[in-house]
Amino acid sequence: MPHKIVLIGYGNMGKFHGRILNRLGNLTAIVEPFEGNATKAKEISENVFANLSEVPYPEQIESVVIAVPTQYHYTVLEESLSTFPNLKAVLLEKPMALSVQEAQEVVSKVKERGVKCLIGHIEVYNPVVTRFLQLIEDKTYGEIRSFHVQRKGAVATKRLGSLAGVLEDLGVHDFDIISRLISSPVKVYCAGIEREGSLNSVEIVFSSGKNIFGTLNLSREFAGRERKIVIEMEKATLFVDLVSQTIEVRGLGQVEGNSTSVIVPHGPGSSIKVYGEPLLEEHFNLNSILDENGIPLVSEDNGVITLKFVEACKKSIQTGLPVFVEW
Ligand SMILES: NC(=O)c1ccc[n+]([C@@H]2O[C@H](COP(=O)([O-])OP(=O)(O)OC[C@H]3O[C@@H](n4cnc5c(N)ncnc54)[C@H](O)[C@@H]3O)[C@@H](O)[C@H]2O)c1
Repeated sequence: MPHKIVLIGYGNMGKFHGRILNRLGNLTAIVEPFEGNATKAKEISENVFANLSEVPYPEQIESVVIAVPTQYHYTVLEESLSTFPNLKAVLLEKPMALSVQEAQEVVSKVKERGVKCLIGHIEVYNPVVTRFLQLIEDKTYGEIRSFHVQRKGAVATKRLGSLAGVLEDLGVHDFDIISRLISSPVKVYCAGIEREGSLNSVEIVFSSGKNIFGTLNLSREFAGRERKIVIEMEKATLFVDLVSQTIEVRGLGQVEGNSTSVIVPHGPGSSIKVYGEPLLEEHFNLNSILDENGIPLVSEDNGVITLKFVEACKKSIQTGLPVFVEW
């Protein structure tokens, strides 16, 4: 069943939401104050407004998708809650806020109003992530031992203002996934470099207890585009390509060798290919909340946890020391 959803912000990310909302018959109006982007928004909707207060029949609006620069997330959320009295759910782009404190204010605002909140950690909606989380949970390959992320690409310097630093921009996706896999507290150590005053690439080492550790290499100044995760488990190594949506499972045999060579025989392995568009899955989740009281896969609480990781990494860079994250 179509729903009445207002898209707020028609920039880089708003365009993608607009396309999906349109496809699902849910695009009721677009709010975009910048004339250049409002003109583009008119290509997909007749109802484009500069302000929320201009949206007709506000009492009919069931949900908003907030895709404005991160520094405006909180004010736009507040404005949406006061403009649309019957909101059931909000899809708030990632990162949900600029700090843990601001994120906690978002949590109390939505909980106070009984509005469900879904945070746009789009990678968690990637079907290949759902698949490897299942494989790990099944314990077919034993316990997880280590987790290594390569999330790298190039971002134009002029876009940095809308995106916050690399930890909030890229890291939140992986922090969310890590928090679903390993238990708190997690120790993080982070080193990074800035561009134009924005933290732009980092290397993070983390560990949980004595049995799991991992690394994250996040960069917005990498020539090319990589989105890969390597997960070492007791009985296999999983090579996940988030872009091609494939998992190569390499069974881990007994390591053999002598002083000059080492042979690591692959045990039985397999290659898994999954299909699905992460943003569409995110909107299906939003629809399920509006249709039948579904549950957000990425809730405001998941959003807060990821910002705790962000703040711990920043503190580690500042102090040069490892920092604990708890949730
Ligand atoms: N999930 C993802 O993978 C992903 C990817 C890119 C960006 N994002 C997030 O999406 C958000 C937007 O990023 P972007 O790259 O699209 O930025 P952008 O600057 O390209 O677009 C933001 C748009 O919001 C509009 N805007 C600003 N204030 C507004 C307001 N008060 N009301 C309505 N519209 C307003 C701007 O005019 C602009 O058109 C950021 O929070 C970013 O982190 C998420």
